[in-house]
Amino acid sequence: MFTPQDTPTSTPHVQRLPAARRQATMAELVAQGLERAAKSLPPMLFYDARGSELFEQICRLEAYYVTRTERALLAEHAYALTRRLEPAVTVAELGSGSSEKTDLVLEALLGTREHLRYVPVDISAAALEAAAERLVARFPRLEVRGLCAEYQDGVQHLARLDADQHLVLFLGSNIGNFEADEAAAFLNRLARAMRPQDRLLLGVDMVKDRAILERAYDDPEGVTAAFNLNMLAHLNHALGANFDLAAFRHEAFFNARASRVEMHLVSTKAQDVHVAALGRSFHFEEGESIHTENSHKYTPEALEGLIAAGGWRTLERVTDDAGAFSLCLLAPRPEVLA
Ligand code: AVJ
Repeated sequence: MFTPQDTPTSTPHVQRLPAARRQATMAELVAQGLERAAKSLPPMLFYDARGSELFEQICRLEAYYVTRTERALLAEHAYALTRRLEPAVTVAELGSGSSEKTDLVLEALLGTREHLRYVPVDISAAALEAAAERLVARFPRLEVRGLCAEYQDGVQHLARLDADQHLVLFLGSNIGNFEADEAAAFLNRLARAMRPQDRLLLGVDMVKDRAILERAYDDPEGVTAAFNLNMLAHLNHALGANFDLAAFRHEAFFNARASRVEMHLVSTKAQDVHVAALGRSFHFEEGESIHTENSHKYTPEALEGLIAAGGWRTLERVTDDAGAFSLCLLAPRPEVLA
């Protein structure tokens, strides 16, 4: 299966989830993506240990407003948003990364509970282990049971956890990586794995000024460029590819028609790249790009549409003064529950 990830996990806090369905291997994903007329590679391939580290650096950049805006919303609203949850709620998080903003939610819940279980799900074992160590040291009454898995498998696992109530966190606008129809399909699968009392806290980045969006994905410090190019270094290590990182450049722009920021790696010359694990080469023309990521941005109307199409209803939505980011507390619609 696709490499969940980097290092073997040995701490008591993190378990590697066996994939439920057969997943494409990393080599297959790369072959599929680079054979296309318009070459692309899935954003999942960003997150080797170095990629997770670079993403953490992005989250601290002044230009990347996403993380700090969401954190400020959580700081202001975590108590109100979690006040009505049941005493025996279990918190799960899809794409938890460093779990850094999650502290605000866990702290709010632990204020009124003796014990709390937290199930972070992430593709990077290194990120999960670091987060688990940090959290159990900070919150002695917290039990951490991390899962190294993709979202889809994580969702199936959550459905089987014995918990009176789930609070699922899907933060950071991770949902933005999906096309609108995929996002709705994913939210539907999640809703069907839930019960009436379960809740989803969804963080979504909103449409805004093009200049702000493009600066967030092409920061002056060049961290996002390094993050994007690191995908090629990851493939070099994992698949014996010979991408020359100096012969590709980072590009990010807002595609207004599709309401998304796109990231690409553009070949600066005509070149062939060999991938040992596939026993073959791929040709790049000068100026040809590999599309590596979409980050969809929502209007308030499009967001309401997504929530409804995804089988959820909004209990509360909070946003910052500029309307840059939204946090939505959602409940599954009764009609999608079996
Ligand atoms: C983790 C998918 C939410 O799209 O903003 C940040 C990833 N890529 N800068 C995003 C990312 C470039 C991020 N998500």
